[in-house]
Amino acid sequence: MNKAAVIGSGTMGNGIAQVVATAGYNVTLVDLKKEYLNRGMETIQKNLDRAVKKEKLEDKEKKEILNRINTTTEYENIKEVNIVIEAVPENIEIKKEVFKELDKVLNQDVIIASNTSALSLTELATVTSRPEKVLGIHFFNPVTVMKLVELIKNIITSQDTYDRAKKFVASLNKTAVEVNESPGFVVNRLLIPMINEAIFLVEENVACPDDIDTAMKLGANHPLGPLALADLVGLDVCLAIMETLHKEFGDSKYRASTLLRKKVRAGQLGRKTGEGFYQY
Ligand code: CAA
Repeated sequence: MNKAAVIGSGTMGNGIAQVVATAGYNVTLVDLKKEYLNRGMETIQKNLDRAVKKEKLEDKEKKEILNRINTTTEYENIKEVNIVIEAVPENIEIKKEVFKELDKVLNQDVIIASNTSALSLTELATVTSRPEKVLGIHFFNPVTVMKLVELIKNIITSQDTYDRAKKFVASLNKTAVEVNESPGFVVNRLLIPMINEAIFLVEENVACPDDIDTAMKLGANHPLGPLALADLVGLDVCLAIMETLHKEFGDSKYRASTLLRKKVRAGQLGRKTGEGFYQY
């Protein structure tokens, strides 16, 4: 097993491609347009350049990693891979279409994993002809830095698929935790409602974003305050996760803050658009 494909070259997709290529796999990064792929590759190049500058990586290794990453806009070009990780936007309909396409071109023994933050793996699995080979391999942002991966079993995932995925994750030098499918899994079920609550505090004028973040950094030892973290994760992603928790559990404790909705509608999505709760 030495060939992988990553679908989607955004924040998570390019990070995953970099990590997988660094571990020695040949990676094909797939996206709809060449310009998206170029942007993803630029980010990877920048991250690797930074590592070389900090003397954490040799220039020769950087070139080898980059050589192991190919890009394509055609699913036909990933026929030979052993594992696929989907990292397209957090929308179940888009993901289902991607899963159907992947199922058509990939050999029957290939694992199809999703990096979804909160959506149902069972719903994705059942659009394929291999639901037992579908699971969640959920990375954290920034992917190159964060050690954790949630390995999420849909209710039909086979033990063999889980074991193969666990070995793959270990080969990436990440630590896996085993999770049975449930909305938001473990980390986002805890983290995103906390971020949403911090946004309620801003909305209710209890404190300003800077003071809320300082409070959580100095009062709870969080490396980043909840609003800076919202900007890192992306406010659109935070809202999508809150919507999933609210819809799936039907519990009003998961309602999204109005301010979060307004900021997403205004296109203030955080770091990726240059403005969220802070300016970048
Ligand atoms: N991309 C790549 N590398 C980055 C980075 C980025 N965006 N930001 C920081 N780094 C790297 C730095 O280059 C540095 O690397 P070295 O150790 O090799 O020098 C390292 O991270 C530490 O960076 P800094 O010293 O500049 O800054 P820091 O001490 O504040 O650490 C951080 C940065 C690791 C991101 C830290 O702030 C942190 O842990 N934040 C919390 C992140 C978090 O909670 N992520 C989970 C989000 S939830 C999620 O992703 C799930 C989901 O589905 C939504």
